[in-house]
Parts: sequence; C-alpha cells; structure tokens
Amino acid sequence: MTFRARHLLGVEPLAPAEITTLLDLAETYVALNRRTVKHGDALEGLTQINLFFEASTRTQSSFELAGKRLGADVMNMAVAQSSVKKGETLIDTALTLNAMQPDLLVVRHPNSGAVNLLASKVNCAVLNAGDGRHEHPTQALLDALTIRRAKGRLHRLTVAICGDIAHSRVARSNLILLGKMENRVRLVGPATLMPRGAADWGCEIHEDMRAGLQDADVVMMLRLQKERMDGGFIPSEREYFHRWGLDAEKLALAKPDAIVMHPGPMNRGVEIDGTIADDINRSVIQDQVEMGVAVRMAAMDLLARNLRAERGARAAGGGVYV
Ligand code: NCD
Repeated sequence: MTFRARHLLGVEPLAPAEITTLLDLAETYVALNRRTVKHGDALEGLTQINLFFEASTRTQSSFELAGKRLGADVMNMAVAQSSVKKGETLIDTALTLNAMQPDLLVVRHPNSGAVNLLASKVNCAVLNAGDGRHEHPTQALLDALTIRRAKGRLHRLTVAICGDIAHSRVARSNLILLGKMENRVRLVGPATLMPRGAADWGCEIHEDMRAGLQDADVVMMLRLQKERMDGGFIPSEREYFHRWGLDAEKLALAKPDAIVMHPGPMNRGVEIDGTIADDINRSVIQDQVEMGVAVRMAAMDLLARNLRAERGARAAGGGVYV
C-alpha cells in the first residue's frame, strides 16, 4: 500500500500514487455508505477529536459521520463554549487535548499554517479540515473522487476554478492536486480576487468568464468569502453575478457534458444560479457531499494504519509504549 503520511495537513506533500490509493479505498467506503448497515471497524477503539475554530456544517458533520461509521469514539469540541474564549492559546488547547490521548485530531482554523503548528505539538495524527487560505486537503480529495466518477478519469481534463480564488483554500488544494494528476487548470475571476503570484503557478488565468469556461470539462464555482475580505473586492453582488456568476448562458460555452461543482455553502444568485445548482444533469454538488464522507473515512483509515504501525514499531524497539 502506498500511503506514508503521518498527518494529512495538505495535498502538497502527497505523491500521485498516494492520492490514487486514498481514492481507491474511498470507493469501497462509497459502497459501504450505500448499505443500510454502514459499520466498518477500521477505527475501532480509537478516539477522534474534532476541533473547529471556524464555522462548518458539512465538513464537521462529514468527519463526525466518517469516524462513527468506522467505529471511533468521536468527540466534537465546542470551541465557542471552551476556554479558547477565555484566551487560551491554540497550543495550550492542543496540549490539553493531547493529554487526553486522542488518536486522530481534525482541526479547522482561520489562520493559514495553524494546523501545521498544532501537528508539531501533539503525538496523534492530525487532519487539516481547512486552515485560512492555505489548504483543505479532504475537500480537494473529495472533489477528485467526484470528478473521477463523473468523467471516468482524473487526468487530461480542463478544469475551470471560478470566483474568489484569492481567499480560497479549496482553490489552492484543488489546483495542487489537479496539477499533480496532470490536468489543465484555469483560474477564472476578477483580478481583485486573484492571488498575488498566481501568474507563476503554471495555470491559465482568465478575467473573462466566457473565455475561461470555453470547452471546460469541469466548472468549479467558489463562494465569495466575505468574511475574509476587508472591503472593495467586488463592485456589487449584482454586477458580480452578471460577470462571474454561473448561469445557463455562460455554462453553454463549456463542453456539453461539463459537470458543475461547488464546495458549499453556496450563495445562490451571487456566484451561481440556483437552477444550475439544482440541475441533476449538470450539477454534482450533492455527489461531492456524499464523496466527502467516504474520502474522510479513507483518510482516517490510512492514517490510523500508519499510526498503529509506528506505535507497534516503537513498542517492539523497546521505546515507550503508547
Ligand atoms: C469551504 C471551506 O470552508 O473552505 N467549505 C467547505 O469546506 N465545504 C468553502 C467555503 O467556505 O466557501
């Protein structure tokens, strides 16, 4: 089996073979999740803590279900009611939780790099559930599985990632993953929402949505992340929808069988027309949610195997038994 990582902090360190291993394992969990009885035992006896410093609906519930379906004891830290509100630092929170002997720690944080820092302070496997504008690896992996299932392959596809690229960890992780798997990625959006330095990333950049969507196989829309903006990025939501919102007329420029994706939560009528989002012939948005649970099960399963192997080796070598 090819998957060596100790943590899942980003897709950046993953080799293409590791991505394929994870997606193949996730396929088996898609099948399990469609059964009436959905229990596996890959995480039996392990403790998973979800630590979300930012709001989340689908990612947190998806990680919670994934852990429960594989037999882990899952605890959701209610950060809003915790000592974090009393001024406890991220590291103190991490050390406190670490002392409770978790095996898997799932963390979302508004600051880029915070999850990597935390991972260096604990001795369990850490999964990044989104850190600032940096990475959101399980989102890119679930998007990859959705694309692979819809298109029958995960290479040589033209993928247009559209909208608020600058503030999006989803865009960054997808750009890295899709590039590793040899796809052609286009970043499409207003210049004010394009990250500085994007021109050096080896992908096409389009300000004109129509040119960006031309013959695309996959159209990935992103939410306008107003909470990360300090004003002045877009003219008005009306004008934004007119120029960069996905409607039937713009979508007609993509390939006739192009799929439409969105990580959620959606702002209907701002970045995407509600009718397109609900069109079951084009939109795979609900599939993304379904794949999310399976991909998180696969990610935690693989990390747990590595964790067990590492602890086993340490115990056999006469080290401290953990
Ligand atoms: C994304 C996130 O939080 O980065 N959502 C998600 O995980 N499904 C995208 C977003 O918030 O717009």
